[in-house]
Amino acid sequence: MSKEIPGYDLGAAPRSPVTMDELRAIEQSTGWTEEDGQWLSEVARYLVPQAEQMVDRWRSVIGAQPHLAKVFFGPDGKTDDRYKAAVKKRFVQWVVDLCTRPRDQAWLDYQEEIGQRHTPARKNATDGAHTPNVVPLRYLVAFTAVVNTSVREFLKDTKRSSEEVTKMQDAWSKAMLLHLALWTRAYAQEGLW
Ligand code: HEM
Repeated sequence: MSKEIPGYDLGAAPRSPVTMDELRAIEQSTGWTEEDGQWLSEVARYLVPQAEQMVDRWRSVIGAQPHLAKVFFGPDGKTDDRYKAAVKKRFVQWVVDLCTRPRDQAWLDYQEEIGQRHTPARKNATDGAHTPNVVPLRYLVAFTAVVNTSVREFLKDTKRSSEEVTKMQDAWSKAMLLHLALWTRAYAQEGLW
């Protein structure tokens, strides 16, 4: 399925400057454990089928805030719907990948690419769009709160105990923050990341 998503380049992205050792160190810094890996597989069971609804929810939060919505505006000051739709398919795939993909070299390479796609290095390039050339770092970081807290709602009908839901949420949050840590590299000055 993923091969049919235009611009989805996992497996075809340039090599990330981040090493596997650095990846493992960030993973460790989030407090990631093997048990989290098992809980993330549980998360996949519930969230993969809801991935599109999750992205729709996040999109509605972005769309309701002019300072966020404008990163999807074309030169005419209106939402570039073609761009937004193209990006959405890859965003949905990201939810699936977060829950299911092994964190191997191809995955690591693609995280660098996703980070760059939020910055002038690569924003708009994949879809040939003409929207603003950056998602400001402050919003990328702040929006993590929405992505992480909203997961609770998507896990609420699982009929699992609250302890189990907490474990699933924790695994999701750690995985999400691992992505964020990797994506921030594209914004950082040499030597500071
Ligand atoms: C933690 C929060 C965020 C996550 C998890 C996230 C995730 C993603 C993902 C997975 C993609 C697609 C990458 C690909 O091409 O495969 C993407 C692209 C994009 N995101 Fe984000 N994002 C976040 C925050 C934001 C915010 C706050 C905005 C805007 C206000 C934003 C705007 C965009 C735009 C415009 C693109 C398309 C970039 C391009 O290729 O031109 N993102 N994001």
